[in-house]
Amino acid sequence: MTVTPKNLAGPLAAPPAASARITGIGGYRPRRVVPNSEIVERIDSSDEWIRERSGIIERRWAGEGESVIDMSELATTPALEMAGIEAAQLDAILVATVSWPYQTPAAAPMLAERLGSKAAALDISAACAGYCHGITMANDMVRAGTAEHVLVVGVERLSDFTSRDDRGTAFIFADGAGAAVVSRSEVQGIGPTVWGSDGAQWEAISQTESWIDVHQKNLGWPHIGMAGQTVFRWAVWGMAPVAQKALDAAGVTADQLDAFVPHQANVRIIDAMAKQLKLPADIPIARDIAYTGNTSAASVPLAMERMVREGEIPRGGLALQIGFGAGLSYAAQVVTIP
Ligand SMILES: CC(C)(COP(=O)(O)OP(=O)(O)OC[C@H]1O[C@@H](n2cnc3c(N)ncnc32)[C@H](O)[C@@H]1OP(=O)(O)O)[C@@H](O)C(=O)NCCC(=O)NCCS
Repeated sequence: MTVTPKNLAGPLAAPPAASARITGIGGYRPRRVVPNSEIVERIDSSDEWIRERSGIIERRWAGEGESVIDMSELATTPALEMAGIEAAQLDAILVATVSWPYQTPAAAPMLAERLGSKAAALDISAACAGYCHGITMANDMVRAGTAEHVLVVGVERLSDFTSRDDRGTAFIFADGAGAAVVSRSEVQGIGPTVWGSDGAQWEAISQTESWIDVHQKNLGWPHIGMAGQTVFRWAVWGMAPVAQKALDAAGVTADQLDAFVPHQANVRIIDAMAKQLKLPADIPIARDIAYTGNTSAASVPLAMERMVREGEIPRGGLALQIGFGAGLSYAAQVVTIP
């Protein structure tokens, strides 16, 4: 028997296509400053080694009153203010994080409640690329008419999932939150995204044991482990071409940029990417890692927030941003600076 659909009439009602841009950005850095000197003993390292190999001078670790939700709220408030909207006007909230300590529900609905919003709310798990994935999704939601205002938060409390004794990660990972509001606008201010994944390298950065093993084998608290050299090579050789493709897709040349805001993984990776992209010497490059460490999903919005706040980059100019990390996963796009 063949069944036929009742309605062969054609397309469903759809809102008209719109344009989108980032209209507000905010950040929150935890109060506790942790210099290299506080870390070196347990990993048999030195301040000089950490500075030279990673560019990190100090980082922030969250304490009491600085949960994933607390930090997200504190980053969101200035972002909403800059965007000129109230939380109640948000249609969707996307929280990019890998350090929310509940399997379910997601962090986003709790953040929504804290903000006084009833928006659609969900988390994104794409590690250090999570924020740029969120900007992609927010852009598409606004362009398709599903939302008028979307909040994208990148937030981490990686100090909860970092072993103080792991030489490969103890000095890198840190805590913080960055937030952006993506809104309908007259002019398109978010370029096409270039994104992808390489699951063959799934284990290069990962939680050391699954929750099932932790429970059944009584393994104790897991942490995030990393094959440093593997990740370093992938980032240096693989991510500059991705960033170049994002420039090409947006129809922008390197000399037209007002900022380069890559994920703050390691200052040597940032420098190598800038060199491969042949960025002119006068283009500001985010090096927030020196005083913030690697805050995974929070790193790109935190770096941009600092550059905007300190007047280093012009509002309305063009920034190339790229996130990359565990998965392995990546996403890059050119955006108009809010
Ligand atoms: C982690 C990282 C800084 C380590 O640097 P590296 O040069 O690859 O270090 P290696 O593991 O090859 O070790 C080099 C030497 O430093 C030593 N070393 C490793 N970790 C050390 C530490 N924390 N302190 C001091 N010495 C250390 C090693 O013992 C080795 O010594 P040897 O040459 O005498 O054998 C680097 O691999 C890196 O930045 N990777 C990318 C990490 C990253 O960006 N992750 C985030 C992506 S989202």
